[in-house]
Amino acid sequence: MDYMRAEVKSPHSILEKYTALLDISYRLNSERNFDQLLKLIADEATKHVDAERATIFILDKNKGELWAKVALGVSDTIRFDARLGIAGAVLIAGKSLVVEDAYKSPLFYPSIDSLTGFHTRNILSVPLRTPKQEIIGVFQVLNKRDGKFTSEDEHFVQALANQAAIALENTQTLTELENRQQELIEENQNLRKEVEERFTTKSILGTNSKIGDIRAIIERTADTNVSALITGENGTGKELSARAIHFMSPRRTKPFVAVNCAALPDTLVESELFGIEKGVATGVERRVGRIESANGGTLFLDEIGDLSLTAQAKLLRVLQEREVEWVGGRRPVPVDVRVNAATNKDLREEIQQNRFRQDLYFRLNVIHIHMAALREIRSDIPLLAMYFLKKHTKEIGREIQSIAPDALKALTAYHWPGNVRELENEVKRAMVLSTTREIRLQDLSDVILEERLEVPEADSGKKVGDKQSLKHRVTMLEIQMIRDAMTQTEGDRRRAAKMLGLSHQGLLNKLKRYGLGD
Ligand SMILES: Nc1ncnc2c1ncn2[C@@H]1O[C@H](COP(=O)(O)OP(=O)(O)OP(=O)(O)O)[C@@H](O)[C@H]1O
Ligand SMILES: [Mg+2]
Repeated sequence: MDYMRAEVKSPHSILEKYTALLDISYRLNSERNFDQLLKLIADEATKHVDAERATIFILDKNKGELWAKVALGVSDTIRFDARLGIAGAVLIAGKSLVVEDAYKSPLFYPSIDSLTGFHTRNILSVPLRTPKQEIIGVFQVLNKRDGKFTSEDEHFVQALANQAAIALENTQTLTELENRQQELIEENQNLRKEVEERFTTKSILGTNSKIGDIRAIIERTADTNVSALITGENGTGKELSARAIHFMSPRRTKPFVAVNCAALPDTLVESELFGIEKGVATGVERRVGRIESANGGTLFLDEIGDLSLTAQAKLLRVLQEREVEWVGGRRPVPVDVRVNAATNKDLREEIQQNRFRQDLYFRLNVIHIHMAALREIRSDIPLLAMYFLKKHTKEIGREIQSIAPDALKALTAYHWPGNVRELENEVKRAMVLSTTREIRLQDLSDVILEERLEVPEADSGKKVGDKQSLKHRVTMLEIQMIRDAMTQTEGDRRRAAKMLGLSHQGLLNKLKRYGLGD
């Protein structure tokens, strides 16, 4: 039999051992380094049971393997199938085992000896069991120097193993937590870098000089703190530019806070922008304002043209004083924010109509960035369309590599009232509808097909009668005339209407229909 019991020694020696055990337990629990802990357990065990060596096998549950790092004096890691050897038997049975003559035991796994060059004579092997009764490995002491392992040794080693299991579990959890934390830090850094790169001027695509000028002005003013007013029609990339300004500035590691002024009801403007103290009204919780949450970074006031006059006055005060007053707050809080704003309205017109404060306009309009309408930079339509094709491949789950020449022509000819955003949506829609690896003319929306400048070629499969062609040409002429009138009158709609022989409302209707106005 492998299993052996020996006589219990004197109570005096037992007391000594258990005092030692208490001391070891204390030290085990203060050791936070996993390798050091393994060494400490092994050292103490060999010393107290008078053995030549101790090995701690840790169970790798995922791989179904036992691995050992420290055997006294051996630094290599050994790994083997968790069902093998005496350690495997102890692990499976969950009970300790004393083997008197290793090489005579059928359970003994001699390859470990040949790996380590150690000659095992006898073994005392105990499971490493946590207080939750989970076995996390096996602990064994090898080669009693004098005679055989006694039952007292067995009790001692088991008691030590119980303490060791707790300490090992703690450090392992700690190490895992530390590793996880390190991973999170790295992940966060990578994500931040990715975001920063995604929002530089490189993200503003276009070879047209109007786009080139926008990139240049953003780059030139990147490290200043001056306010930029970004104007342009819907979907022209105003927010894209606002992000580029932020992520190219030294403020890039601080928050970029976008506030949609159009969505701020007058009653909430103050609390939302400046913050509100707890208990100002019943049930009101303390809330930091959006301006303060942008501290150190950039505040982007989107749709600034929709801010009420009262709110404009309050905002102006913040910009002048560089501090915010909380609703119900005792004293103003200083803030350091760069303020950029965007609008699709003509603010000068709004000033004339007494809907926008001139002093606020001057504060915001230090740099003016005007985003060109897509129809003004038609030559960039193919580039943008191809970019969106690639951008949405994953999301749509379909790889479409090209756009047929006639489809591209139609895209380039269309007047795009919704600008780049509309183009992006159109490309997405066509990708979904397409049945081939190419976007074809028939995949495009009717509004685009109706507006094609050229009569389709005879072989396009779609016969277009003279009537439609005439209607189309008339429309194009109408658009051209309206544009000319608007340019000549510098956007004065009343004068333009007069010039065209239309009523004011009639012109407004046409501007809307063709996406030429706001
Ligand atoms: N030059 C460009 N290069 C690449 N993508 C662009 C460009 N211009 C706009 N986009 C994309 O078009 C979409 C609309 O842009 P954005 O939201 O910045 O427009 P906006 O002017 O703020 O629109 P709105 O007035 O409707 O708020 C976004 O997906 C943006 O990434
Ligand atoms: Mg926007």
